[in-house]
Amino acid sequence: MFDIQQYLREQRLLVENGLQRYMMPEQGDFSAHIESMRYSLFVGGKRIRPILCLAAGRTVCAAPEIEEKLLPAACALECIHTYSLIHDDLPAMDNDDLRRGQPTCHKKFGEAEAILAGDGLLTYAFALLSNPDLPGPETATRLQLITVLAHAAGSQGMVGGQYLDIASEKKTISFDQLKTIHRSKTGALITAAIHMGALAGQADQGQLEALTRYGDAVGLAFQIVDDLLDVTASTEQLGKTAGTDAQQGKATYPAFFGEEKTRALAKEAVASAQKALASFDERAEPLRVLAQYIYQRTC
Ligand code: IPE
Ligand code: IPE
Ligand code: MG
Ligand code: MG
Ligand code: MG
Repeated sequence: MFDIQQYLREQRLLVENGLQRYMMPEQGDFSAHIESMRYSLFVGGKRIRPILCLAAGRTVCAAPEIEEKLLPAACALECIHTYSLIHDDLPAMDNDDLRRGQPTCHKKFGEAEAILAGDGLLTYAFALLSNPDLPGPETATRLQLITVLAHAAGSQGMVGGQYLDIASEKKTISFDQLKTIHRSKTGALITAAIHMGALAGQADQGQLEALTRYGDAVGLAFQIVDDLLDVTASTEQLGKTAGTDAQQGKATYPAFFGEEKTRALAKEAVASAQKALASFDERAEPLRVLAQYIYQRTC
């Protein structure tokens, strides 16, 4: 039996160690700025994107070196994700005071510093990926990873999704528009995590397509469940203030469909993620279990 809790503990430790190793130290002229980046990065978090990236790599590549090779890329994903949370919490966006169980970056350091902490993490992600002195795949594949991440994090992915999320507050939008918001603001980076793992593991075309379908489905499921938890979970459980989506008139699945149908749609997305893995053997077991975890998670 696959023990998901133990797996997540081990994988989180691996990612924490990678982040400690590859994140710039709090030293020198910019130490106060680096402190604000490190604060948000190390304050907590499930590390699901790096974990999915590593799991995708291992699914297609049996060589143990894949883990070491992918670790800087996995850390880059967490840097981008953490930057997105810092900016998402700013007063101009979702205006949240609590993140990962602690005061948000701007509450702790001030707004200008939080904007810059986000900028610093975003930029550092690409420094990690492109640095030839760090472990990684060969140059042509590194370039592919950079392209995939830049596209997913940018204006046709996460940033574009965040734009639409803000622009849709208190508006009536269609189900297609809602899906676009969720796929872009959250799904794009999750899909990129899996895509990058698969590319570094030298997946063949069929594997790449299947894993991208898997990523697309778990990415959507992840944001549907995030919406659901905002309604059903407590602030203590989430480490971020619950119930804020409705207050702000956010475009969410529960606002659109109610709780029960939302849960059914999350389940449906997870089922299509599992279906995408049908051609893989037991090496894809962690990805199968992670999809289930994304549906069942409580924070
Ligand atoms: C929260 O992401 C923001 C979304 C994109 C839904 P996570 O739920 O992965 O947050 P952490 O990293 O565990 O704090
Ligand atoms: C955040 O979506 C998506 C990104 C940060 C890109 P939410 O605004 O729903 O995330 P939470 O609920 O604040 O974590
Ligand atoms: Mg938001
Ligand atoms: Mg938010
Ligand atoms: Mg949310």
